[in-house]
Amino acid sequence: MSGKTAKLTLPDGREHALNVIVGSENEHAIDIRSLRQDTGYITLDSGYMNTGATTSAITYLDGEAGVLRYRGYSIEDLAEKSNFVETSYLLIHGRLPTARERDEFSKQLTYHSLIHEDMQHFFAGYPPTSHPMAVLSAMVTSLSAYYPDCLDRDAPMDLHITRLLSKVRTIAAFSYKKSIGQPVMYPRNSLKYAANFLHMMFAVPAEDYEVSPVLEKALNQLLILHADHEQNCSTSTVRLVGSSGANVYAAIAAGVLALWGPLHGGANQAVIEMLEDIQKAGGDYKKFIDDVKNKRGERRLMGFGHRVYKNYDPRAKILKKMADEVLEHLGIQDPLLDLAKSMEEVALRDDYFISKKLYPNVDFYSGILYRAMGIPTNMFTVMFALGRLPGWIAHWKEMVESKDTKIGRPRQIYTGEVERRFVPISERP
Ligand code: ACO
Repeated sequence: MSGKTAKLTLPDGREHALNVIVGSENEHAIDIRSLRQDTGYITLDSGYMNTGATTSAITYLDGEAGVLRYRGYSIEDLAEKSNFVETSYLLIHGRLPTARERDEFSKQLTYHSLIHEDMQHFFAGYPPTSHPMAVLSAMVTSLSAYYPDCLDRDAPMDLHITRLLSKVRTIAAFSYKKSIGQPVMYPRNSLKYAANFLHMMFAVPAEDYEVSPVLEKALNQLLILHADHEQNCSTSTVRLVGSSGANVYAAIAAGVLALWGPLHGGANQAVIEMLEDIQKAGGDYKKFIDDVKNKRGERRLMGFGHRVYKNYDPRAKILKKMADEVLEHLGIQDPLLDLAKSMEEVALRDDYFISKKLYPNVDFYSGILYRAMGIPTNMFTVMFALGRLPGWIAHWKEMVESKDTKIGRPRQIYTGEVERRFVPISERP
């Protein structure tokens, strides 16, 4: 509370004072919680374009300035100097771990990396054409059946949080192995988080597999960049589902499903598909951009635009540089990277994109990196989910630990029929 108020004048001339809340980065909000009770009015804001659903101490994002910080640390610093496990600890616990805390956290993640053997049967039940996001979401919900004490809101939650972080990685890799008909590779305790994932994805029983340190670093960075993004569609979903008292696995599975859509986490897959389509059609990207601008064929420049960023997404900046480094290290020349860069160059000079403040977002370059790492296109959104997991968990934890937990329940303005008399079918014309 700032002690300041804003004044609202209603159509009947009544005036209503509303408290102003100021955040630690000087963000201002008008607190409308008592508005309906006091005046009979609600606010209408479809898509929550201008509605703060909560206060939160996890992530700060200034979309105009292109700033992103987790718990006060800049995304640039974290991507350069941290790793995914440490960043996950930071997001979930609110501070960087000591060396001992980090080692213990890593040990716990290693210890909980297996999934119950019975869950293997679930994978066999899915057709090979299944999208891995369908498998992932169902498996995450199913974890609640194996750890039923999660239904008890008073049970210690740290163990469930560790299980989620560790087992979702195993589930993601197993679902890939099943989809290509290979035997699953069990996690290896000697490997760190990202390296273990690469091992489960790419090792085969017949051969030794050595994890490339460059790919391990790139994966750590990719996961860090996706780890949180305050009240986005999937995180808001996690909070909304969690607000009903649903268990943590159910809330996170709901987040996975919300992420699946092409306007959200599915955009990384959509970017590659868009680039491949342009390439197959002869590579005329300028015509594609022209079609987008003139809204021909209802296509968008995927990987461009963001509800919050009205400037270059700082994550896209890091990924663009990383894409160059990783591809160079692997000796890969990917024509899609050249195509993406050319499209970015044209779009950033074009009035349509400038006037609407459309810049590359995190997904414009992430798919190119995943491709270079050998991760298939339909796994891209799973990779996003793996990265976003600590953010979802941190928000769920913040919400359940908050004293001010209310079930999420928006209002509406009804625009349907007013009351009418029911006519039995025999009397209808
Ligand atoms: N290509 C072309 N035009 C676009 C694009 C785009 N990528 N994004 C927005 N626009 C245009 C819209 O057509 C609209 O134009 P209009 O005013 O003439 O109707 C205007 O810009 C505003 O667009 P909205 O959809 O209203 O903006 P909103 O904030 O609701 O949407 C979103 C943001 C969904 C990310 C949008 O920019 C988009 O669809 N981008 C492509 C998909 C994408 O990359 N999603 C990933 C987002 S990042 C993430 O989730 C990790």
